[in-house]
Amino acid sequence: MNAMTRTPEHGLSKFHRLLLDQVGHEFTASHQYFALAAWFDDRDLPGLARVFYRQSLEERDHATMMVRYLIDNGVSPDIPGVGGIETDFTGPRELVALALRQEQQVTEQIKQLAKAARDEHDYTGEQFLNWFLQEQVEEVSTMSTLLNVVDRGNGNMFDVETWVNRELSSTGDAAGAPGTAGPSVS
Ligand SMILES: [Fe+2]
Ligand SMILES: [Fe+2]
Repeated sequence: MNAMTRTPEHGLSKFHRLLLDQVGHEFTASHQYFALAAWFDDRDLPGLARVFYRQSLEERDHATMMVRYLIDNGVSPDIPGVGGIETDFTGPRELVALALRQEQQVTEQIKQLAKAARDEHDYTGEQFLNWFLQEQVEEVSTMSTLLNVVDRGNGNMFDVETWVNRELSSTGDAAGAPGTAGPSVS
């Protein structure tokens, strides 16, 4: 345990406490994306299912990158439980809108983490978060575009699938990504 990471009141710095919470948020996001993927899969929308299955793996990697960072910085990774997810949907738009809300929420969480690192002069922590800040810009942008495409499709999911297969077929660029605890899955 690095003495610099401890404060007398809580044992851990605020940044490290928030980062441990974030591990739980990322695993929850992974679980939620898996549920969205299975919904699309069940309705014979393989393009959308593929995008969300892959997104689920990426969120899992985000959690394990944070665990790697905590271990490397002398913080015991007490893995939080996975939070509740939504599974009751009436149509594709609802799922994509939920994904966008989830990414916007995670962006706020990462910004709070960056603020805590800066407030505590945790330069290593601040540097670690740079990749995540960049990643969130991409993920919010992708989900926002996908929601526009679903709206434009106006119920024609064949058109949406064609667009998804054309525009969202490649995996994300993980260049410069932090290392994971255990194998990277995405
Ligand atoms: Fe994430
Ligand atoms: Fe994400």
